[in-house]
Parts: sequence; structure tokens; C-alpha cells
Amino acid sequence: VSKQLWHTVCCKSLSENCRSLLIWLFCFLYWCFNIFSLFQAPPKEVPKTIENQRIYDETTVNPEDEEVAFDEGTDEFSAYFSRLTNPKVLITTSDRPRGRTVRFCEQLATVIPHAHVYYRRGLALKRVIPQCVSRGFTYVMVINEDRKVPNGLVLCHLPDGPTAHFKVSNVRLRKEMKRRGKEPTEHIPEVILNNFSTRLGHSIGRLFAALFPHDPQFVGRQVATFHNQRDFIFFRFHRYIFKNEKKKVGIQELGPRFTLKLRSLQKGTFDSKFGEYEWVHKRHEMDSSRRKFHL
Ligand SMILES: *[C@@H]1O[C@H](CO)[C@@H](O)[C@H](O)[C@H]1NC(C)=O
Repeated sequence: VSKQLWHTVCCKSLSENCRSLLIWLFCFLYWCFNIFSLFQAPPKEVPKTIENQRIYDETTVNPEDEEVAFDEGTDEFSAYFSRLTNPKVLITTSDRPRGRTVRFCEQLATVIPHAHVYYRRGLALKRVIPQCVSRGFTYVMVINEDRKVPNGLVLCHLPDGPTAHFKVSNVRLRKEMKRRGKEPTEHIPEVILNNFSTRLGHSIGRLFAALFPHDPQFVGRQVATFHNQRDFIFFRFHRYIFKNEKKKVGIQELGPRFTLKLRSLQKGTFDSKFGEYEWVHKRHEMDSSRRKFHL
């Protein structure tokens, strides 16, 4: 009996000892960790920028996404991208355009090959569109103005849409460029679409791309760039030049330049009354978060 008693007492105290030992060990480790972190350099703070704080958009396009590939293979631009159609663009204005808007249209027509400028005198856009369709145009582009300054652009893809409305700002015409190059030539430019990452961004990128004929003529060395940054689309038109000996490449800006902001994207052709909207910019809702971008 006494042997058994001794055994239980001993075991019990042993396990109690064990427990307290563990607690001590834990405290010691905790203390070590605290001392260690005292001597450690404070973690480097990554500066917060709008870019790294951007709210993730669920529609950001992964280049391997099959669903996106399927959608883009069957959308309104698929005929263009599978080389079944060639672009033909009609550029027009609101009624009675003023000097600056007229020049802007003319200069756009030197950027976009196969573009025709047409001043519709009082003819409603809805009447113009069927005529354009029957004549094989693939786009109608309308430049609107406010107090003689171009301030809006409607881009309507034919025959089935979509139609995008943009706000236009910071138009700089060719003769207002600081160090302008020579006049552009009639070569088909390369088109660069930069940083259009979401589904909406892709649609808008395709809308711009399909304005230009396939197969750029590289001898012309002309590049049209649409660069998206925080939902502002910056347009630039350049020519690059090879400087003889040092194998350097320089660029000249040919102009014009301007900035676009998407206001809405509509299904179908231009229809201000019954058009179905795919996307509309809502100023108060959407601009309240400065970290959410849509393109
Ligand atoms: C790309 O777009 C995002 C969102 O619009 C913007 O935050 C970022 O600055 C853009 N990148 C460049 C290189 O402009």
C-alpha cells in the first residue's frame, strides 16, 4: 500500500512540476521574443499609393480566361479582329461647328486612315446612321463642342453598336504643340492600347483598336497611343525616328493630343431615348471611392 501511495504522490508532483516548467519556458520565450523585437529595426512602411490601395475589380481580365476569349470571339468587334471587315469612319460634329472643332475633326481624320469628315447640317444623327450602314461605314464619330471648345465624343460602332460617350478635355491641336514634328503621312499607324485591364476596359480598348485598319505600315513609323491611367484615357500621336549612328530612337509628337473620360457605354447604335446602357458613369457614387477604377 505504501509503495502505491508513494508512486501516486510522486507522479502527481512530477506532472505538476512539468506543468509549471512549461509555463516558465513559455514565459521565457515570450520575454526573449519581446527583447528581440525591441532590437529589431521597425518594419519598413510601404508608402500608400493609389496604385497599391486600388480596390480589386472582379472583372480584371486574365489573358487565359476562356470565357473572356469566347465573349471576345463573338462580340461586335469579332468580325474586325478576324479580318472580315475593314474600318471606314465617318467623323461629324454637332450643328454649326466652330473653328477649333472643325480643325480637330480634320486632324483626327489624318490620324485615322479611311476617315471622312462630314458636316451634317441639321440632319439628325439617327437619320445619318442608316445611311452610313448602307454605305459600309463601320463607325460614326461625333465631336461635340461647348463655347467653341470640343468637349464630347460619341463613338458609335456600326452596324450593331456599341456606342460610347466620352468627355473630351485638354485638346491640343497640331500647331499648339510645343515641339511638334512634321505633318503626319498617310501610312497606317501602329496602335498601342495601354493598361486597359477590366472587362469594360477591354471593350473600350477593342472599340479604339477597330478604328484603325489591320497591318500597320511600319515604314511610316507612326504610332497612335491610348493610355489609360485612373480611368483617364490619354491619346497621343507620335512618329519615331532612328538617329543614324548611335542606334538611338527618338520620338516626335505629331499631335493632336487629348484626354477622354468614359461617360457611358450603350448597347446598339446611337439612341438617346431607348438605348440600353451597359455601363454609366455615376459621378457621386463612383467618384466617392478614389481607389476604385473601372477601365
Ligand atoms: C494603370 O491603371 C491603374 C488604374 O487605372 C492606375 O492606377 C495605374 O497608374 C496605371 N498604370 C500606369 C503605368 O499608368
